[in-house]
Amino acid sequence: MVNTKVKYLGLELDNPLIVGSCGITEKIQGVEELAKYNPGAIVLKSLFEEEIIREIQESVQKMYQTQSVYPEIFDFFDTIQDEDSVSKYLFLIEEAKKKVKTPIIASINCVSASDEWVSFTERIQDAGADAIELNAFILPTNLSNSGKENEQIYFDIANKVKKISKIPVAMKVSFYFSNLALFLSQLSKTGIDGLVLFNRFFSQDIDLDRMILTPASLYSHQDDLYKSLNWVAIMANRVSCDLAASTGVHTPEDFIKQLLAGANAVQVVSALYKNGMDHIETILKGLEEWMNHNEYETIDEFRGKLSQAQSLNPAAYERVQFMKHFSGKS
Ligand SMILES: Cc1cc2nc3c(=O)[nH]c(=O)nc-3n(C[C@H](O)[C@H](O)[C@H](O)COP(=O)(O)O)c2cc1C
Repeated sequence: MVNTKVKYLGLELDNPLIVGSCGITEKIQGVEELAKYNPGAIVLKSLFEEEIIREIQESVQKMYQTQSVYPEIFDFFDTIQDEDSVSKYLFLIEEAKKKVKTPIIASINCVSASDEWVSFTERIQDAGADAIELNAFILPTNLSNSGKENEQIYFDIANKVKKISKIPVAMKVSFYFSNLALFLSQLSKTGIDGLVLFNRFFSQDIDLDRMILTPASLYSHQDDLYKSLNWVAIMANRVSCDLAASTGVHTPEDFIKQLLAGANAVQVVSALYKNGMDHIETILKGLEEWMNHNEYETIDEFRGKLSQAQSLNPAAYERVQFMKHFSGKS
């Protein structure tokens, strides 16, 4: 019998498979259905920072004047009818904690370190969430913000939330940083408990027939695995917090690779949309079979075995692999 238990954000998980934040985790029915397949934890759908600020009577207009939000947010509020999303979110956390044994991670999608929403994290904790994941959604498209200023927003968010929160805090980030390794290392030193690599931004495509912008696929493909896999391998044991892998994990093999790269936990979303929720069982069964086959009794025996922390100079390692490959010597 293999033991798949892991520790992530200080929580004891039965296994390292975490259902990532998505539409399925927006309602209690989805959470209950997912829990039947025994994932290690479930991240609830994100609540937007703007929804929280709106709920506590701060006007969106004021936020806009202080430039803490992008103007498109007004389109969003024009389209939603539901004004009570924050209370519903807290209720969802409470219900999930009552109805399933799976650890529940609440999620906030944020663009600033505004005190208004940061103080709300106390209510998330009072509702019973086991941890909070902050999906910091700052696209570096603003020509008047330097890279350093953008990075500072992440540090401010991490510092402020950690000051208030008594439950563990993870940050889900993108890869748009000039020195990603240094940034991740510094962010981990703020005291956050985990980093989720990486966020998958909404992308746009162009429809050539209709000559309009269209949304690109919402779901990832298996080829999307490698960015996250490489960076988990590069950062494992070089950050002062846990690492969760996210994006492109579709098969048991993808899942095992992320653990070998050094992930403490692995998030899965698109694969569940494409294959159904019972795909959780397929991945976990594949993990157990692989562990049995390789005579591993616990995850810790092989986690990080193929991380690049084994190499003292990951950049040189990458370059040598690149040179070998393109000179036909690999
Ligand atoms: C329908 C859908 C809704 C999502 N909603 C959220 C969300 O509210 N918050 C969040 O942090 N990520 C959200 N995501 C992103 C996923 O959590 C995940 O980061 C992304 O899909 C990449 O993982 P995957 O390759 O396993 O799908 C959503 C993804 C999908 C497909």
